[in-house]
Amino acid sequence: MDALKEELLSQVASAADLAALDEIRVTALGKKGRITGLMKELGALSAEEKKARGQALNALKDEIAAALDARKADLAAAYLAKKLEAERIDVTLPVRPQTEGRIHPISQTIDEIVAIFAEMGFTVADGPDIEDDFHNFTALNFPVGHPARDMHDTFYLPDAADGRKMLLRTHTSPVQVRTMLKKKPPIRVIIPGRTFRSDYDMTHTPMFHQVEGLVIDETTNMGHLKGCLIDFCRAFFDVDDLPLRFRPSFFPFTEPSAEVDIGCSRKGGELKLGNFGDWLEILGCGMVHPNVLEACGVDSTRYQGFAFGMGIERIAMLKYGIPDLRTFFEADLRWLKHYGFVPLDVPSLAHGLTR
Ligand code: PHE
Repeated sequence: MDALKEELLSQVASAADLAALDEIRVTALGKKGRITGLMKELGALSAEEKKARGQALNALKDEIAAALDARKADLAAAYLAKKLEAERIDVTLPVRPQTEGRIHPISQTIDEIVAIFAEMGFTVADGPDIEDDFHNFTALNFPVGHPARDMHDTFYLPDAADGRKMLLRTHTSPVQVRTMLKKKPPIRVIIPGRTFRSDYDMTHTPMFHQVEGLVIDETTNMGHLKGCLIDFCRAFFDVDDLPLRFRPSFFPFTEPSAEVDIGCSRKGGELKLGNFGDWLEILGCGMVHPNVLEACGVDSTRYQGFAFGMGIERIAMLKYGIPDLRTFFEADLRWLKHYGFVPLDVPSLAHGLTR
């Protein structure tokens, strides 16, 4: 037994890793192990012999088990120390300047829009791309059969199980409805998101993005709408004296309604933004129609407010000089490397929207 003990202890001491150690445990203490085998032989001995040898064997077993445990703890600690050393990361190292990934101009533009409106106290809301007829049209004061519905080139989907007409939202305005149905005034939200219309050429893609704005309280008026949009456009395009022109227009869900142009020049085929006497249309807006407020459970004798909506691709193209809308969605890496943005340059009004 002493010889066996010495042999096993020296094996344990020289086990190189946890796997080798476990093998030693099995050959000593496993079901067919050497100490287990000696235990099984006890049955053949006399009562007295059995007692003495049994005690000695138990002591041997305990000693080997303890040696195994101790060695296991040492090996585990050594393994962890080695792993920590090998996988060490210096978190104080500067970020690699040669980052390859780029932020898509649409994402960048949305981040910029959110940064500006967040500063004015707006929060971001969203809604589903797949809408029903009620949220996209009816609640927005498009009566059934109204010709304005046809202007939207809607993608219709099969009816829902409960008979609702389903479609891909043609604008972000249905989220106005969802927001008012969910939340009591005062409301001040912007809603960036995807929109869909069946149209495809240099300036139209079947999927594009809009950002919607909605403010509802007891006092907000057309003057606030103008001030808000003037501030936004000047901050977004980074032109301090950018002129804005509000032209009367029509949307079923706003009254009065306006389309907004920004000042530009097209001299020599080059588009420049600023006070140059020429105009470019960029968004639609107006005071939320009382019928819309009522359809959303908002008391129109007490509450009022404004809404606006603009195309994100359009203002991104203007700001960043991107000539063809369709290239936004071609997923061409060369294009993305050229027009994309470095991930860590997060837009904020404090350090600048774009660098
Ligand atoms: N939803 C309108 C469109 O897509 C834009 C708009 C939004 C106009 C809000 C007025 C108010 O054309």
